[in-house]
Amino acid sequence: MGFEPQPDFGTPASLSAETVALTIDGQPVTAPAGTSVMRAAAELGTTIPRLCATDSVESFGSCRLCLVEIEGRGGTPASCTTPVEQGMVVHTQTPLLQKLRKGVMELYISDHPLDCLTCSANGDCELQDQAGAVGLRDVRFGQEGATHLGEVKDLSNPYFDFDPSKCIACSRCVRACDEVQGTFALTMADRGFASKISAGTAADNFLSSECVSCGACVQACPTATLQERTVVEIGTPDRSIVTTCAYCGVGCAFRAEMRGEQLVRMVPWKDGKANRGHSCVKGRFAWGYANHAERILSPMIRETIDQPWREVTWNEAFTHAAAEIARIQEKYGRHAVGGITSSRCTNEETFLVQKLVRAGFGNNNVDTCARVCHSPTGYGLKTTFGTSAGTQDFDSVMASDVVLIIGANPTDGHPVFASRLKRRLRQGARLIVIDPRRTDIVRSPHVEADFHLPLRPGTNVAVLTAMAHVIVTEGLADEAFVRARCDWEEYRHWADFVALPCNSPEALAPVTGVTPVTLRAAARLFATGGNGSIYYGLGVTEHSQGSSTVMAIANLAMATGNIGRPGVGVNPLRGQNNVQGACDMGSFPHELSGYRHISDAAARNMFEAEWGVSIDPEPGLRIPNMLDAACDGTFKALYIQGEDILQSDPNTKHVAAGLAAMECVIVHDLFLNETANYAHIFLPGSTFLEKNGTFTNAERRIQPVRKVMTPLSGLEDWEVTQGLANAMGLGWSYGHPAEIMEEIARLTPTFANVSFARLDVLGSMQWPATAAAPDGTPVMHVDSFVRGKGKFVVTDYIPTDEKTGPRYPLLLTTGRILSQYNVGAQTRRTANVIWHEEDRLEIHPADAEDRGLKEGDWARLASRSGETTLRVMVTDRVAPGVVYTTFHHPATQANVVTSEYSDWATNCPEYKVTAVQVSPSNGPTDWQEDYSAFTAHSRRIASEEPAE
Ligand code: FES
Repeated sequence: MGFEPQPDFGTPASLSAETVALTIDGQPVTAPAGTSVMRAAAELGTTIPRLCATDSVESFGSCRLCLVEIEGRGGTPASCTTPVEQGMVVHTQTPLLQKLRKGVMELYISDHPLDCLTCSANGDCELQDQAGAVGLRDVRFGQEGATHLGEVKDLSNPYFDFDPSKCIACSRCVRACDEVQGTFALTMADRGFASKISAGTAADNFLSSECVSCGACVQACPTATLQERTVVEIGTPDRSIVTTCAYCGVGCAFRAEMRGEQLVRMVPWKDGKANRGHSCVKGRFAWGYANHAERILSPMIRETIDQPWREVTWNEAFTHAAAEIARIQEKYGRHAVGGITSSRCTNEETFLVQKLVRAGFGNNNVDTCARVCHSPTGYGLKTTFGTSAGTQDFDSVMASDVVLIIGANPTDGHPVFASRLKRRLRQGARLIVIDPRRTDIVRSPHVEADFHLPLRPGTNVAVLTAMAHVIVTEGLADEAFVRARCDWEEYRHWADFVALPCNSPEALAPVTGVTPVTLRAAARLFATGGNGSIYYGLGVTEHSQGSSTVMAIANLAMATGNIGRPGVGVNPLRGQNNVQGACDMGSFPHELSGYRHISDAAARNMFEAEWGVSIDPEPGLRIPNMLDAACDGTFKALYIQGEDILQSDPNTKHVAAGLAAMECVIVHDLFLNETANYAHIFLPGSTFLEKNGTFTNAERRIQPVRKVMTPLSGLEDWEVTQGLANAMGLGWSYGHPAEIMEEIARLTPTFANVSFARLDVLGSMQWPATAAAPDGTPVMHVDSFVRGKGKFVVTDYIPTDEKTGPRYPLLLTTGRILSQYNVGAQTRRTANVIWHEEDRLEIHPADAEDRGLKEGDWARLASRSGETTLRVMVTDRVAPGVVYTTFHHPATQANVVTSEYSDWATNCPEYKVTAVQVSPSNGPTDWQEDYSAFTAHSRRIASEEPAE
């Protein structure tokens, strides 16, 4: 019978294309050379008892349970570590093997708590299963002698317990941490009987160790040694539903394991093509916000924002909202209202919000949070390649020889992809990192970047131009690729530009701060090192030259021939779970779904015919324009689904002023977020666990989101938007999100072949999914670019207007941390706060000393826009002159400080470059203290107030 090697995780490193034929228990089988006897047997349906082997990690051969007999060989080798050989004759079930396995198991059990019936893993324990499999019924040895039964539990981690008394020292957890996660936090300390799992050498427990709580060790553990606390509390699951994570743009697939109506645990799905069975601390553990006491479950309204909220029925809320929108449009005109779609909501929900705006509000005033993150990706890649999306799938990185990461921190922002990347780097791929900070990927266990270019914030374009200068002037460009695939004249024009002496690494060094010799070496490596891939994040897009940087990246990829096959490409690492989908679904004011311009009459006609309305051919307002117009008195109502613009958008004071100037702000969310302080109508949202739909990840992969529990508020988010639409008289009648996807597919050529039924069969699909590629497209631009010829665009370096000077001598750049997500609305309401309970300001030791600041001191962070205070972390991860903070906590509100400068093409804010001063402080500023009082006042709910 044939053999299908498993992709990636679990594939033996030595697997080859050559096959060998052998016999197992009298049955013939062929398998690739390098396959283990155990795996070949599994292909025949023969299960050999095992404990230390699992298909997610390389075999280790320590438990001795998987013994087999091989004719012509002495002894009983372990089948998990013995490779198949031509003509081998294997026996897996003989009296000798049964006796040996029973003896091995008896020794394990004699040093194991004998409380199977009361153990929390009862029914979910491989040791228990294997004891049954080898026929062990009685243990002859007592437990009076030396055992591990008295070992003390480690309960330090908020999500899982470590009970060493149940450990069988199989080291699956250690290998999972090394091979799957790539953190190398766990070790097997001591030897023989004294062997024990240790979370690092210096650490006392899991919490204080290097462990990142990804849970790979828990998943790998065959006993209850490492176990989710929810299993202890709720019990073992009795059913599961496959769904997609609602955190970052990696899009991990999970089995949501339930007991009755209660979610017990999230287990990464091995067949998930984005995550291949792995996860991070957020996806696996941080879902407790779904049941948090602060969830708002009833619709609420109030006339003015200083009144307490009043709970109302859904009908009353819809009727009131529709009446308010009608009143405002009557008084101020059709364009005085708009909507914001959410990158956390499903494609179907997002599609309905933009439809509500276009078909119901009668304008194109719809925008999305991609405005403040990846809108330059859309512009830059559409211009150069013809499609507003990344070119590869995540598997592609396993074929990369040189990886260039610019403006991304994958170990914190996209940790599951980072684990894949680190795996490839451990196999020998080379690494170039362009980032002002020394992020963890620059140096971590068994991974070290070949080059780290710690550029000055705001100089991405200059660095990429200097790299292009080296490639062009040293004759390293792939001119054959360029001639075949790109516009040659535009290439020549671009090449002449980058070759100018003013664009050399030496000429630009005073601007970029990057040592020319390092930059030259990095450029040579990228151009000549084999398959070169580029991964980038918000450190590229959130600049005044964000779109230029994306195009400079595309230029570099085309000039070196790194487009159109596995291992290469341009890959934006998307921030939120469905930011790609929100953009795909027509959330921008100038584009219909599938990135067709609103002025395109043919595209507009499709929607007009389907929806029975006429669509405004003029682009609507972007988020910053809506806020400006509100301050000017011409924009009066906003429906915001699943976004917290007060905290996420730049220049908080301006956002607050815009919101305060509106007459009707409708917030549709899980919690009374910071934006809701300015809201008049609150519509409760549903979590990803409470609804059906799809998310699209950074690979363009459309994946099912499946309802695992009833919405606590009674409605899924798409039903809320439909309720509002129908109160406005639109007459929508969707019965299920599958029907919304059918409409999306009818109206969006790149989604033509997508349906819930096909997703159920295929698991996921990467758009474009068309007649030419019915199951989707893993790698784009294979034979030609979507736009035809690849377009080179000259990207002049233009310094940002945000300048340092005597008053503001430092540059602030912002980012995120592993345990928190975006504005923290979800993760702050989970035990993840144990790792990051406040935003801190990273500052170089020299800058800290100049200001008399020590680790943990309060500091005032001030810019031209505003000021805040937070504690400092003194670290040389940042260069002198650069400070860094996260934006997860409303108590700090880093965006009070960020400026209104933005990308020239898309208005994406320049979060990554703000001139600031840092000085000692005694604690929170007046506004911070006033803000908490304002928030408490604004969140009052009449039904919860004491009667007069
Ligand atoms: Fe082979 Fe443990 S499963 S030695």
